[in-house]
Amino acid sequence: MKKKFIEYIFPIKSVGIEGRKEKQNAIGRIPSIHLYFARRPTCAARAIILSSIIPVPSEDKLLIDYFNLIEGYGKRKLPKKISYKDNLISIYEAIKLIFSENSIKPNEIKVFDPFAGGGTFPLEALNLGLNSYASDLNPIAVLIEKATCEYPQKFGKKLVDALEENFLRVNETIEKEMSNLYKNEVHPENEINFFVWVREFKCIECNLIIPLIKNYLLSKKYQWALIPKIPDAKEGDEVLFSIGWPNKSEGTYSRGKVTCPRCRNTISKETVMKQMPEQKTEKIVAVYENIYDPKSNARGSFRIPSQKELKNSEIKREEVINELLNEYPDIDIKFQEKVAAWGIQNYGIDSTLKCFNSRQLIVLTKILRTINQIAREIEKKYENPEFSKAIILYLSFGLSKLADYNSNLTELLTPRNPTIVHTFKRAGLFMKGLYIETNPLKTDSTGGWMLYFKSLKKVLNNLIDQSKIKKGKILIKQMDAMELEYPDESMDFCFTDPPYYDNIPYAASTDFFFGWFKASLGTIFPDLFLTESTPKENELVQDSYRKGNSKNAKSFYEKGMGRAFSEIYRVLKEDGLAIIIFAHKDNNAWQTLLQAIIDSKLTITSTWPVLMESAAAVRTNNVVSLDSVVILNCRKLKREGFKYYDEEFRNDLENKIRFKLERNWRQGFRGADFFLSALGPAFEEFSKFEAILDVKNDNPLKIKEYLKFIDKILVKFSLEKTLGHESSTADAETQLYLIWRASYQLAKLPYDGVWKFTHALGLDDKHLEGKLLKKVRVKSTTVYQCLDTNDRKELFMDKNYSPSSLIDALQYSGYLWSENDISLDDLVKQYYTKYGEEFWYVAQAIINLIPESPESKLFMGLMRKYGKSVKKTSKENKKDKKNIQQTFVIEGNNVIIEKKINKKENK
Ligand SMILES: C[S@@+](CC[C@H](N)C(=O)[O-])C[C@H]1O[C@@H](n2cnc3c(N)ncnc32)[C@H](O)[C@@H]1O
Ligand SMILES: [Zn+2]
Repeated sequence: MKKKFIEYIFPIKSVGIEGRKEKQNAIGRIPSIHLYFARRPTCAARAIILSSIIPVPSEDKLLIDYFNLIEGYGKRKLPKKISYKDNLISIYEAIKLIFSENSIKPNEIKVFDPFAGGGTFPLEALNLGLNSYASDLNPIAVLIEKATCEYPQKFGKKLVDALEENFLRVNETIEKEMSNLYKNEVHPENEINFFVWVREFKCIECNLIIPLIKNYLLSKKYQWALIPKIPDAKEGDEVLFSIGWPNKSEGTYSRGKVTCPRCRNTISKETVMKQMPEQKTEKIVAVYENIYDPKSNARGSFRIPSQKELKNSEIKREEVINELLNEYPDIDIKFQEKVAAWGIQNYGIDSTLKCFNSRQLIVLTKILRTINQIAREIEKKYENPEFSKAIILYLSFGLSKLADYNSNLTELLTPRNPTIVHTFKRAGLFMKGLYIETNPLKTDSTGGWMLYFKSLKKVLNNLIDQSKIKKGKILIKQMDAMELEYPDESMDFCFTDPPYYDNIPYAASTDFFFGWFKASLGTIFPDLFLTESTPKENELVQDSYRKGNSKNAKSFYEKGMGRAFSEIYRVLKEDGLAIIIFAHKDNNAWQTLLQAIIDSKLTITSTWPVLMESAAAVRTNNVVSLDSVVILNCRKLKREGFKYYDEEFRNDLENKIRFKLERNWRQGFRGADFFLSALGPAFEEFSKFEAILDVKNDNPLKIKEYLKFIDKILVKFSLEKTLGHESSTADAETQLYLIWRASYQLAKLPYDGVWKFTHALGLDDKHLEGKLLKKVRVKSTTVYQCLDTNDRKELFMDKNYSPSSLIDALQYSGYLWSENDISLDDLVKQYYTKYGEEFWYVAQAIINLIPESPESKLFMGLMRKYGKSVKKTSKENKKDKKNIQQTFVIEGNNVIIEKKINKKENK
């Protein structure tokens, strides 16, 4: 069994950067075919698959060539030529060469993804010529996979042409039957882009019909806002609007609470929820049209609705729904569960049809009927029934895209050009006071019927043109990952990205589309629509409501993941490789997932953190995000027997791990990335053995215990790197301070990150609150701040202050120095006796870490006063570090290869 390239080295930095860019710009890429949640970037998938099928080259000098090839293949725009064996050739030529040099026959390789979702991995496997098996429990995912990995490849350009014809046909129907709703009567040349609706709530005290508006802003960039006219009691109870500036009015609706702008009465969230289902009133308050304004350079402008438009909007929803249900009895999906975060059921929105107003329902229904009509006719028109199926599928995707952009749970994006924030900006459905109804006939910005086709055409053409390698075969099937329908030892690779705990309620979210799909596709893909709604029973998410309570939900998820991994183990060939991508959020999720992998008998052979964002860029509001993505490479290795978790084992383990840590440090990992990069080596060691046993009672060691030990090694290691030596006198609090500054500088940390340090250092984090640490709220989450001298000034003002640790003493001295306090000399003498030279080493370390910080300046002053020379880190050094993209080590003879890149290439 040859070691694969990914088990040796992987271009984590560049894959991370490319992935981030890809997320920001999805146009022309597969996510625009249909919305799906937690999609992996395609460039990462490409690099992962290529580096998994090619081996580590037998000649060391080819390492860089291979590395460059994989890095290049993982870019959004593939480089034109790359260097291979001193020749400049295209990426595809290089791949073919490497395949033939290593006797790799792609058409004989089988890969599978049991959690295929939007189909990223199957697609990229296909593009490399491999045979791909994709499955998912969710029928909508299966449809997306077909639309992404099967139909474009199978039918090519003629599919795009046939789609154009049929999309236009639907458009004509909307135009013919409904255009009056979307026309400006006075200036028909002005194209309406969307209508702004608000829900209303009657004030319990004064009867004012309160429009539920968070913020009256319509566009910050072009200075438009809704200006409400609040009537006094004699004038009636309706709020009228004009459009203007400045935006001064205070919102009426915040965090579920309503404040009456007339009598200032506030109505609690609970009352609002209770009464909302009865108070179903809402109205159009503004219309946005695509008329270019040369003055402001705006692409459109707002006006208030005309009388006719208001009249047109008064259609009773009940009637529309009843008519619809007559025709399509299965179309309305009752929300079966209270997905904790949603809560829209509490407002009476307890089924999918209630997510639309009557006009939105009417247009969606018109489209649905036309699609049904086309489906009936098309059978005669095209010989190949699969081709007809494909056409109806993409038309249905057009319908669901419109549903996403045309529901009463949309929003308005106000800072820039006014645009629609679609329903599923996040997975889940959330109550909105103000929402948007789009004009399906519009020709500009998102939310128009033909606009969807335009973007679809782009992606399909890309998919058809993609890859110069002969495509492999694909098989797509709805399947439960806990029970795969593949024979034992039949697959060469598994590439998969499993669901993570309760991160995303896939099935509950896709229910929003399920009814529409069942109505348009139920007879075309009957196997996928046997259920009333998206299948949920076996979905691997942790959902307390579904499973009765949180304990059951957790246990279902954990056991289920265990079964899924055992299935991966079973269908994988003896020398197969399973690559599991895991998005990491918190320690608990990690431990569970790893336990499940280990229980399945898979052995983790190596891991890579994907640096989706560099440690520094990952911050918003100066809070460190611990979210990251890790690639776990697993094999079916024979495990070594039992090991005792004794002194000898631990020493041995520490040495091995430190060796790898050294390598990661050299590769430039710092902060959260560094801590994550250590998990790989730790789990390689852990999963090597049948079991690691507790010396005292022969019980297998818990992952939690093991990770505690690893964290200790990690903390010790980074501390040594920070101080430049092993510390004997610095107490735990000081160590915590140093390691925080070294890893995250002045940024704040979520509890999980703090806990990692405190428990590794044996500290009680509660005890540190009010001393070194402070809890603060940032954007409604609690995070921790590590306080510097200035933050603690008030404490130090106390004449009798008595420091309890080295860092405390240092900060206190810094403060006294800045105040020219006469007691400083005595105290410093006292601390020096207590802590020795370490006192100054710590000061120097903090200066090195953030030289420009006010605290470092204090410490510099302090050191100079006591005749200590302050060593500054050289700038040269820093610049050098930036230029090294990725360093790697040939372990056999320890040659270090540093791959330097120039700045231009980096951009
Ligand atoms: C993280 S997503 C995969 C995303 C995918 N890699 C992509 O790039 O689009 C996880 C998937 O697991 C699926 N899933 C959950 N439980 C399952 C089960 N028991 N069997 C099969 N698939 C399941 C969900 O429907 C979801 O599509
Ligand atoms: Zn009132």
